[in-house]
Amino acid sequence: MTQRILSGIQPTGRFHWGNYFGAIRQYIDLQNGNETAFYFIANLHALTTVRNRETLAQNTMDAALDLLALGLDPEQATLFVQSDVPEVSELTWLLMTQTPMGLLERCHAYKDKKAKGLNAGAGLFAYPVLMAADILAYDSDIVPVGEDQIQHVEVARDIAGSFNHEFGSEDNPIFVLPKAQIIKESAKVPGLDGGKMSKSYNNTVEVFEDAKVQKKKIMGIVTDSRPMEEPKDPAGDHLFEIYSLFASAEQIKALDETYRKGGFGYGGIKKELVELAGAFFAEARSRREELAGKPALVRQILADGAARARKKAQAVLLRAQKACGVK
Ligand code: ADP
Ligand code: TRP
Repeated sequence: MTQRILSGIQPTGRFHWGNYFGAIRQYIDLQNGNETAFYFIANLHALTTVRNRETLAQNTMDAALDLLALGLDPEQATLFVQSDVPEVSELTWLLMTQTPMGLLERCHAYKDKKAKGLNAGAGLFAYPVLMAADILAYDSDIVPVGEDQIQHVEVARDIAGSFNHEFGSEDNPIFVLPKAQIIKESAKVPGLDGGKMSKSYNNTVEVFEDAKVQKKKIMGIVTDSRPMEEPKDPAGDHLFEIYSLFASAEQIKALDETYRKGGFGYGGIKKELVELAGAFFAEARSRREELAGKPALVRQILADGAARARKKAQAVLLRAQKACGVK
């Protein structure tokens, strides 16, 4: 039996290298030509942080353009916008009634905000339930995500299990139990400062950022001030880690040797990284420019995707509604 692959990404800004290596690249690797891969732009989730209609609309379009340019193929996978499938919002309520407060109180997005003494909205608190509905609405088996989202996939699995236990039976479960999938080597892409690359830390390089800006950022990657001649350990060095994302096995081996020998400057490596990263995304960059001139085509791709996704979500919602007695 083919497995349903599903993932979502929030349109909260332009995608950066962390998003690409931690999430987007996996989506593209997993699209499999038989329409079982579903990918969506999570604009309802983004609404918990983006509070300007033009920005949200623009980000959503940009996300679609970026994903398509990076290789997401609408002939092979289903691409849609989260809010175009209203069944997911309906399912969210059914799941909410089966979700213990404690489960959500332990979720890091809410917990971290609380720990900082900030006010969290109900949307942020209930965010994992909407995410569970996203996953369960399509009978998803595998959810490719970055490390920070594993907890949320587990919450979806827990909620599905409780719902099944409450309203289904062993041989007649209501929901499929989903599993998270991460790529180990690039599970956490470091940022310019060596911390995790994230919009929130202002340490990102955007995939389609202006080449000059990108170069300036790369040249500014924080490095230590040890003398050039000193041998260095590549393990745990974030410049080495970032370089490795773009380099071939031979190039990585050569840099590894350079580090261990010592007698090199970080500037030269950064310049090489500018070139490598430029070449890595060159094709995607020109594809994006071309697509940006065809907004009607992009909107059609999203509408077709939503129609396919809705068909599935309608069937699953009905199954859940019947099971719990609202239909
Ligand atoms: P940000 O932290 O910049 O706000 P998001 O939380 O919107 O990024 O993440 C979107 C997707 O990209 C998620 O699947 C997340 O796990 C992945 N991701 C984000 N930053 C990184 C990173 N530095 N390394 C690996 N994956 C990442
Ligand atoms: N919460 C995810 C993130 O911030 C995005 C998301 C929403 C998602 N719904 C999903 C990811 C369902 C996987 C499956 O990255």
